[in-house]
Amino acid sequence: MPAASPFERVRAAPVLGVGLGVDLFSDRPDFRRLVSRHRQGFDFLEIYTRGNWRDAADLLRQVPPGVPRTYHHEGLDPVGPALCPDEPILGCVENQRLLNPPWTVEELAVRHIDGLYTDFFFPAILTQDSLNASIANLRALNARLPCPLLPENAPYEFVVGDMHLCQWLTRLAHGADCGLVLDLGHLWSYQLCAGRGDDPLHGIDQLDLSRVIEVHLAGARVETYPGGRIYRDLHGAGPIPEPSLMLLRELAPKLPNLKAVTIEVEDATERRALDQCAQARHILRQARPDWGPRP
Ligand SMILES: [Fe+2]
Repeated sequence: MPAASPFERVRAAPVLGVGLGVDLFSDRPDFRRLVSRHRQGFDFLEIYTRGNWRDAADLLRQVPPGVPRTYHHEGLDPVGPALCPDEPILGCVENQRLLNPPWTVEELAVRHIDGLYTDFFFPAILTQDSLNASIANLRALNARLPCPLLPENAPYEFVVGDMHLCQWLTRLAHGADCGLVLDLGHLWSYQLCAGRGDDPLHGIDQLDLSRVIEVHLAGARVETYPGGRIYRDLHGAGPIPEPSLMLLRELAPKLPNLKAVTIEVEDATERRALDQCAQARHILRQARPDWGPRP
Protein backbone atom coordinates (compact mmCIF):
# COMPACT_ATOMS: atom_id res chain seq x y z
CA MET A 1 0.00 0.00 0.00
CA PRO A 2 1.42 3.47 -0.83
CA ALA A 3 2.35 5.61 2.18
CA ALA A 4 -0.32 8.12 3.23
CA SER A 5 0.23 11.60 1.80
CA PRO A 6 1.09 14.52 4.10
CA PHE A 7 -2.51 15.71 3.74
CA GLU A 8 -4.01 12.33 4.60
CA ARG A 9 -1.79 12.15 7.67
CA VAL A 10 -2.79 15.55 9.06
CA ARG A 11 -6.45 14.95 8.20
CA ALA A 12 -6.31 11.79 10.32
CA ALA A 13 -4.86 13.65 13.34
CA PRO A 14 -7.12 14.35 16.33
CA VAL A 15 -8.70 17.77 16.94
CA LEU A 16 -6.34 19.60 19.32
CA GLY A 17 -8.61 22.56 20.13
CA VAL A 18 -7.48 26.10 20.97
CA GLY A 19 -3.82 26.46 21.86
CA LEU A 20 -1.10 28.99 22.56
CA GLY A 21 1.81 29.61 20.21
CA VAL A 22 4.87 30.33 22.35
CA ASP A 23 8.49 31.20 21.69
CA LEU A 24 10.51 28.38 23.26
CA PHE A 25 13.32 30.77 24.27
CA SER A 26 11.20 33.56 25.76
CA ASP A 27 9.93 33.94 29.31
CA ARG A 28 7.13 36.20 28.13
CA PRO A 29 5.18 34.01 28.51
CA ASP A 30 7.20 31.12 29.91
CA PHE A 31 5.73 27.86 28.62
CA ARG A 32 6.63 26.06 31.87
CA ARG A 33 4.64 28.57 33.93
CA LEU A 34 1.69 28.37 31.53
CA VAL A 35 1.66 24.61 32.01
CA SER A 36 2.14 24.62 35.77
CA ARG A 37 -0.26 27.49 36.58
CA HIS A 38 -2.81 27.74 33.79
CA ARG A 39 -3.23 24.31 32.26
CA GLN A 40 -7.01 24.76 31.98
CA GLY A 41 -6.58 27.94 29.94
CA PHE A 42 -5.46 26.23 26.71
CA ASP A 43 -5.72 22.86 25.00
CA PHE A 44 -2.23 22.56 23.48
CA LEU A 45 1.02 24.44 22.87
CA GLU A 46 2.58 25.34 19.55
CA ILE A 47 6.31 25.44 20.19
CA TYR A 48 8.19 27.95 18.03
CA THR A 49 11.98 27.81 17.80
CA ARG A 50 12.28 31.21 16.08
CA GLY A 51 15.01 30.25 13.61
CA ASN A 52 17.12 28.86 16.45
CA TRP A 53 16.48 25.19 15.94
CA ARG A 54 20.09 24.37 16.82
CA ASP A 55 19.83 25.28 20.50
CA ALA A 56 16.37 23.95 21.25
CA ALA A 57 16.96 20.40 22.50
CA ASP A 58 17.29 21.07 26.25
CA LEU A 59 14.16 23.23 26.31
CA LEU A 60 12.15 20.92 24.07
CA ARG A 61 12.76 18.14 26.60
CA GLN A 62 11.06 20.33 29.23
CA VAL A 63 7.70 20.34 27.46
CA PRO A 64 5.70 18.00 29.72
CA PRO A 65 4.67 14.78 27.98
CA GLY A 66 0.98 15.20 28.87
CA VAL A 67 0.64 18.51 26.99
CA PRO A 68 -0.46 18.11 23.34
CA ARG A 69 1.86 20.07 21.10
CA THR A 70 2.63 21.13 17.57
CA TYR A 71 6.02 22.31 16.37
CA HIS A 72 6.67 25.59 14.52
CA HIS A 73 10.04 25.30 12.79
CA GLU A 74 11.79 28.10 10.93
CA GLY A 75 14.68 27.53 8.54
CA LEU A 76 13.36 25.50 5.61
CA ASP A 77 12.57 28.51 3.40
CA PRO A 78 10.06 26.48 1.37
CA VAL A 79 9.29 29.23 -1.16
CA GLY A 80 12.94 29.72 -2.15
CA PRO A 81 14.07 28.96 -5.71
CA ALA A 82 15.74 25.71 -4.57
CA LEU A 83 15.65 23.33 -1.63
CA CYS A 84 17.29 24.66 1.55
CA PRO A 85 20.59 23.15 2.79
CA ASP A 86 20.67 19.86 4.73
CA GLU A 87 21.37 21.46 8.10
CA PRO A 88 17.94 23.00 8.81
CA ILE A 89 16.26 19.84 7.55
CA LEU A 90 18.29 17.67 9.92
CA GLY A 91 17.58 20.15 12.71
CA CYS A 92 13.87 19.88 11.99
CA VAL A 93 14.08 16.08 12.04
CA GLU A 94 15.81 16.18 15.42
CA ASN A 95 13.32 18.61 16.96
CA GLN A 96 10.41 16.58 15.62
CA ARG A 97 11.95 13.53 17.27
CA LEU A 98 12.09 15.36 20.61
CA LEU A 99 8.56 16.77 20.44
CA ASN A 100 6.71 14.10 18.45
CA PRO A 101 4.05 16.54 17.14
CA PRO A 102 1.26 15.49 14.75
CA TRP A 103 2.60 18.08 12.26
CA THR A 104 5.16 20.86 11.89
CA VAL A 105 4.39 24.42 10.79
CA GLU A 106 6.73 26.42 8.54
CA GLU A 107 6.06 29.85 7.02
CA LEU A 108 5.73 30.19 3.24
CA ALA A 109 8.58 32.69 3.26
CA VAL A 110 12.30 33.00 2.76
CA ARG A 111 14.19 34.07 5.87
CA HIS A 112 17.76 33.21 4.90
CA ILE A 113 20.00 34.68 2.24
CA ASP A 114 23.34 32.91 1.74
CA GLY A 115 22.88 31.26 5.11
CA LEU A 116 22.31 34.53 6.97
CA TYR A 117 19.07 35.03 8.90
CA THR A 118 16.98 38.03 7.85
CA ASP A 119 14.59 39.42 10.39
CA PHE A 120 12.03 39.80 7.63
CA PHE A 121 9.62 37.44 5.93
CA PHE A 122 10.19 37.52 2.19
CA PRO A 123 6.75 36.12 1.34
CA ALA A 124 5.88 33.79 -1.53
CA ILE A 125 5.96 35.40 -4.97
CA LEU A 126 2.53 34.68 -6.42
CA THR A 127 3.49 33.33 -9.85
CA GLN A 128 3.42 29.91 -11.51
CA ASP A 129 7.24 29.63 -11.45
CA SER A 130 7.36 30.28 -7.73
CA LEU A 131 4.51 27.83 -7.22
CA ASN A 132 6.36 25.09 -9.13
CA ALA A 133 9.53 25.60 -7.09
CA SER A 134 7.60 25.67 -3.79
CA ILE A 135 5.74 22.46 -4.63
CA ALA A 136 9.04 20.75 -5.47
CA ASN A 137 10.55 22.00 -2.18
CA LEU A 138 7.60 20.82 -0.10
CA ARG A 139 7.58 17.41 -1.75
CA ALA A 140 11.32 17.01 -1.12
CA LEU A 141 10.96 18.17 2.49
CA ASN A 142 8.03 15.90 3.25
CA ALA A 143 9.98 12.95 1.81
CA ARG A 144 12.72 13.56 4.38
CA LEU A 145 10.78 14.64 7.49
CA PRO A 146 9.19 12.01 9.73
CA CYS A 147 6.20 14.21 10.54
CA PRO A 148 4.20 16.12 7.91
CA LEU A 149 4.90 19.75 7.15
CA LEU A 150 2.04 22.20 7.28
CA PRO A 151 2.94 25.39 5.39
CA GLU A 152 1.54 28.72 6.64
CA ASN A 153 0.69 31.83 4.62
CA ALA A 154 3.30 34.40 5.66
CA PRO A 155 2.72 38.11 6.41
CA TYR A 156 2.79 40.40 3.38
CA GLU A 157 4.15 43.94 3.33
CA PHE A 158 4.22 43.95 -0.47
CA VAL A 159 2.81 41.60 -3.13
CA VAL A 160 4.56 40.42 -6.29
CA GLY A 161 2.85 38.20 -8.86
CA ASP A 162 -0.28 37.79 -10.90
CA MET A 163 -2.14 35.18 -8.83
CA HIS A 164 -4.48 35.68 -5.89
CA LEU A 165 -2.98 34.34 -2.66
CA CYS A 166 -5.99 32.03 -2.18
CA GLN A 167 -5.53 30.53 -5.65
CA TRP A 168 -1.79 30.14 -5.09
CA LEU A 169 -2.34 28.38 -1.73
CA THR A 170 -4.89 26.00 -3.22
CA ARG A 171 -2.57 25.02 -6.06
CA LEU A 172 0.30 24.61 -3.60
CA ALA A 173 -1.73 22.33 -1.31
CA HIS A 174 -2.95 20.24 -4.24
CA GLY A 175 0.48 20.10 -5.92
CA ALA A 176 2.32 19.08 -2.74
CA ASP A 177 -0.67 17.11 -1.43
CA CYS A 178 -0.41 18.81 1.94
CA GLY A 179 -2.61 20.67 4.40
CA LEU A 180 -2.32 24.38 5.25
CA VAL A 181 -2.12 26.72 8.18
CA LEU A 182 -4.28 29.75 7.45
CA ASP A 183 -2.98 32.70 9.46
CA LEU A 184 -5.96 35.06 9.49
CA GLY A 185 -3.95 38.20 10.21
CA HIS A 186 -1.53 37.31 7.42
CA LEU A 187 -4.46 36.80 5.05
CA TRP A 188 -5.62 40.30 5.93
CA SER A 189 -2.05 41.59 5.47
CA TYR A 190 -2.21 40.28 1.89
CA GLN A 191 -5.59 41.92 1.30
CA LEU A 192 -4.21 45.24 2.59
CA CYS A 193 -1.31 45.02 0.10
CA ALA A 194 -3.68 44.04 -2.71
CA GLY A 195 -5.94 47.05 -2.03
CA ARG A 196 -8.69 44.83 -0.55
CA GLY A 197 -8.14 45.66 3.10
CA ASP A 198 -11.80 46.52 3.57
CA ASP A 199 -12.82 43.07 2.35
CA PRO A 200 -10.64 40.53 4.22
CA LEU A 201 -12.62 37.64 2.65
CA HIS A 202 -11.95 38.78 -0.92
CA GLY A 203 -11.17 35.77 -3.14
CA ILE A 204 -11.82 33.21 -0.41
CA ASP A 205 -13.89 31.17 -2.87
CA GLN A 206 -10.56 30.37 -4.56
CA LEU A 207 -9.22 28.70 -1.41
CA ASP A 208 -9.83 24.97 -0.96
CA LEU A 209 -11.04 25.25 2.62
CA SER A 210 -10.80 21.50 3.14
CA ARG A 211 -7.00 21.89 3.14
CA VAL A 212 -6.97 24.17 6.18
CA ILE A 213 -5.91 22.09 9.18
CA GLU A 214 -4.87 24.89 11.51
CA VAL A 215 -5.77 28.57 11.92
CA HIS A 216 -3.50 31.21 13.44
CA LEU A 217 -4.59 34.34 15.25
CA ALA A 218 -2.30 37.02 16.67
CA GLY A 219 -2.17 40.56 17.96
CA ALA A 220 -1.21 43.17 15.40
CA ARG A 221 -1.32 46.84 14.51
CA VAL A 222 -1.96 48.42 11.14
CA GLU A 223 0.20 51.34 10.08
CA THR A 224 -1.02 53.89 7.58
CA TYR A 225 1.32 55.27 4.91
CA PRO A 226 0.63 57.53 1.91
CA GLY A 227 0.62 54.38 -0.28
CA GLY A 228 -1.76 52.39 1.89
CA ARG A 229 -1.89 50.32 5.08
CA ILE A 230 0.58 47.67 6.30
CA TYR A 231 -0.16 44.95 8.83
CA ARG A 232 2.48 44.42 11.54
CA ASP A 233 2.42 41.30 13.66
CA LEU A 234 2.70 42.10 17.36
CA HIS A 235 1.73 38.62 18.49
CA GLY A 236 1.01 38.77 22.24
CA ALA A 237 2.08 42.41 22.57
CA GLY A 238 -1.21 43.74 21.19
CA PRO A 239 -4.90 43.01 20.70
CA ILE A 240 -6.16 40.71 17.95
CA PRO A 241 -7.57 43.01 15.22
CA GLU A 242 -11.31 42.83 14.57
CA PRO A 243 -10.86 41.71 10.90
CA SER A 244 -8.96 38.63 12.13
CA LEU A 245 -11.76 37.83 14.60
CA MET A 246 -14.36 38.35 11.86
CA LEU A 247 -12.45 35.90 9.64
CA LEU A 248 -12.49 33.33 12.45
CA ARG A 249 -16.26 33.80 12.93
CA GLU A 250 -16.93 33.45 9.19
CA LEU A 251 -14.53 30.64 8.33
CA ALA A 252 -14.64 28.36 11.38
CA PRO A 253 -17.92 26.69 10.32
CA LYS A 254 -16.57 26.16 6.79
CA LEU A 255 -13.33 24.31 7.58
CA PRO A 256 -14.20 20.59 7.56
CA ASN A 257 -10.71 19.45 8.57
CA LEU A 258 -9.95 22.09 11.20
CA LYS A 259 -7.85 20.51 13.96
CA ALA A 260 -6.31 23.45 15.77
CA VAL A 261 -6.68 27.17 16.39
CA THR A 262 -3.46 28.71 17.65
CA ILE A 263 -3.21 32.11 19.32
CA GLU A 264 0.35 33.29 18.81
CA VAL A 265 1.21 34.95 22.11
CA GLU A 266 4.91 35.69 22.02
CA ASP A 267 5.57 38.82 24.12
CA ALA A 268 2.27 38.47 25.99
CA THR A 269 1.77 38.57 29.72
CA GLU A 270 0.26 35.33 31.04
CA ARG A 271 -3.01 37.21 31.60
CA ARG A 272 -3.21 38.46 28.02
CA ALA A 273 -2.31 35.04 26.59
CA LEU A 274 -5.13 33.43 28.54
CA ASP A 275 -7.58 36.23 27.73
CA GLN A 276 -6.89 35.91 23.99
CA CYS A 277 -7.34 32.16 24.18
CA ALA A 278 -10.67 32.66 25.98
CA GLN A 279 -11.68 35.21 23.33
CA ALA A 280 -11.08 32.67 20.54
CA ARG A 281 -12.83 29.89 22.46
CA HIS A 282 -15.87 32.15 22.91
CA ILE A 283 -16.09 32.88 19.17
CA LEU A 284 -15.65 29.20 18.29
CA ARG A 285 -18.34 28.09 20.75
CA GLN A 286 -20.77 30.42 19.00
CA ALA A 287 -19.62 29.88 15.40
CA ARG A 288 -19.06 26.14 15.64
CA PRO A 289 -20.46 24.68 18.89
CA ASP A 290 -19.75 21.06 17.92
CA TRP A 291 -16.01 21.63 17.43
CA GLY A 292 -13.31 20.82 19.98
CA PRO A 293 -11.01 18.13 21.31
CA ARG A 294 -12.49 14.89 22.56
CA PRO A 295 -12.33 14.76 26.37
FE1 LIG B 1 1.12 32.56 12.19
